[in-house]
Amino acid sequence: MTAPAPMTKEQASRRATELRKLIEENSRLYYVENSPQISDYDFDMLMNELTAIENEYPELVTPDSPTMKVGSDLRNPGSTGDKGPGTDKEFAQYPHKYPMLSLGNTYDISEVEDFVRRAERTAGKGFTFSCELKFDGTAICLTYIGGKLVRALTRGDGVIGDDVTENVRRISNIPGHLKGSGWPEEFEIRGEIYMPYAAFDRLNEERVQDEDPPFANPRNAASGSLKLTNPDEVAHRGLECTLYHILGENLPFRTHAEALDAAASWGLPVSDKRRICRDIKEIEEYISYWDTERKFLPFATDGIVIKVNELDFQKALGYTSKFPKWAVAYKFKAEQALTEVLSIDYQVGRTGAVTPVANLEPVQLAGTVVKRATLHNLDQMRLLDIRIGDHVYVEKGGEIIPKITGVELSMRSGSEVFPVFPDKCPDCGTPLVRDEGEARFFCPNISGCPTQIKGKILHFISRKAMNVLAGDATVDQLYDLGLAKSPADLYDLKKEDLLRLEGWKDRSAERFLRSLAASREVTFDHVLFALGIRYVGESTARELAMHFKNIDALMTASRDALMQVEDIGDVIADSILDFFSSAANLSQVERLRKAGLQFSMQAEEKSASDILNGKSIVISGVFSISRDEIKKLITANGGKNSSSISGKTAFLLAGEKPGPEKMQKAADLGIRIIAENEFMEMIAPSEERPSSPEQLTLFD
Ligand code: IVH
Repeated sequence: MTAPAPMTKEQASRRATELRKLIEENSRLYYVENSPQISDYDFDMLMNELTAIENEYPELVTPDSPTMKVGSDLRNPGSTGDKGPGTDKEFAQYPHKYPMLSLGNTYDISEVEDFVRRAERTAGKGFTFSCELKFDGTAICLTYIGGKLVRALTRGDGVIGDDVTENVRRISNIPGHLKGSGWPEEFEIRGEIYMPYAAFDRLNEERVQDEDPPFANPRNAASGSLKLTNPDEVAHRGLECTLYHILGENLPFRTHAEALDAAASWGLPVSDKRRICRDIKEIEEYISYWDTERKFLPFATDGIVIKVNELDFQKALGYTSKFPKWAVAYKFKAEQALTEVLSIDYQVGRTGAVTPVANLEPVQLAGTVVKRATLHNLDQMRLLDIRIGDHVYVEKGGEIIPKITGVELSMRSGSEVFPVFPDKCPDCGTPLVRDEGEARFFCPNISGCPTQIKGKILHFISRKAMNVLAGDATVDQLYDLGLAKSPADLYDLKKEDLLRLEGWKDRSAERFLRSLAASREVTFDHVLFALGIRYVGESTARELAMHFKNIDALMTASRDALMQVEDIGDVIADSILDFFSSAANLSQVERLRKAGLQFSMQAEEKSASDILNGKSIVISGVFSISRDEIKKLITANGGKNSSSISGKTAFLLAGEKPGPEKMQKAADLGIRIIAENEFMEMIAPSEERPSSPEQLTLFD
């Protein structure tokens, strides 16, 4: 721990108050906002400093000091029991049966040695240690009764937690029903929900494409995803869980390892990277092995947890108000590199957002060379007090977007240059604006700023939007030659225009025109996404299209009407209203409509039938038509396609060679499995359909 600097009691008291404020604020940013502004290490150092002051002056300890309680993830503290599940965008809250504590942590191996010695002093000799990975996610507490998952609570403030059961049911490796035998009638099992790197990269790529702020790291992405209000959305986030602590009355286990082995035999996800260590030497071997090997794991770990393995010894050691005394976490420092800021660019995105990006002296970091790092916005630049020429620490924010975490002030020579955030768009010179509550500056010249225009056209033609076969180089040329200054201009292009593009011949021009013609068949939800309304990503566009059915209804919808749509809050509603209040945008819509694009849902998309209304359907295997077409049939008939099986799944639609895991899970949960031909009969127009639903043969 940090030795307290010699200070008077008065100074100590002032510093303690200051530290508590800093810790509370950063704890809220970490646990509630999922958007930490300082590194875990810096946070832990603030906490260590406060602990040291409180140890030196115990009379300064306050009952609500952050050293006395766990950081809270509750957005809406104190509403225990008064909210039924799903009543609104908040979660119902329930008390934990056993308090949900945190772990004492250290970055210093000698403190792990102290832990081992302390344990031996208190509990005597004759016990072992279970060493485990410290999964970097968000804690969860699952309750199983009679072998069924009945509740999932977040840690909350350690005493009460948010009820996220419906979301947890959509996490594919958490069983709704236990398998095997011998599970206690009722028990709790706690663990960590995390987002593997692959899912995290995919999610952030999508978010960047939709100009949503990317998550800083997989941990924030996991806890943000767990608190989504739409379980379908959670299912798509690719979350996983590892469980590491069983609690209950009269459990029949002698050791922690035995308990976890039993949990694994009931189908619960338990880590196979655990090891029993007999002494500090073996613990240190485990730590140094994983300090290197963890870089090859597909998910983030931030340390090692060392637990006394024998449960009677655990009991003898007991708890503080915040930690078990029978366990400690040894944390790995995030990999950092020190490098120089060569310059700062201000990049304009397709929505006009201006992002400061630092160009760095190339440096090796966690396996790749880092040359650029985002500075996010002006507030962040000010917080770092960054100058051009500064030496800065770079960390990988969850491995894809490097970020600058601090400036090495001792390396300042005095020749560093203070960066000036532009007040005009670096591309078109229009004065930048910043809306209230918005951290970013925007170029308001939406119809004249070249970077925005090209960005908008590129977004418009992208695969998930209008799917026109062209890329950056074509868009650059079309713009530079004055042939396309808006998406609508694309539909006025003639073959002779295209032949002016460098290297274009008859065939390339014809191919491009064919692709444009085909885009007239792209459905309304994709067209809506293609318009590039800020915050309206692919799934929001689909929700809006299904709800309003056509552009006229959407354009004239009030703020209240917009907020009726699932997942649309005031920020998205305002953005939609703002978009349709611009004459330039309205004129684009009219030109695109005249060009023949789909601005309403087609009959079969509207609803072929409501036979699948409210039903959640999972598909697996190969079908006689494409999976996209199958999905369309599901939505057209009122159903919802979801990616993972849970207790809420109406049926598993199985093609040829369905996934064995899905089949097994459906069987375990007693979910019906339906073949393609039966599905087709089910959704066939009524005259073709068997007269009573019972006539459908359903098999398990
Ligand atoms: S045991 C009563 N084991 O780390 C002790 N925790 O920083 C229960 N964590 O709150 C915790 N991996 O959310 C335990 N293998 C592991 C863990 C683990 C990650 C988390 C957990 C805890 C936090 C403390």
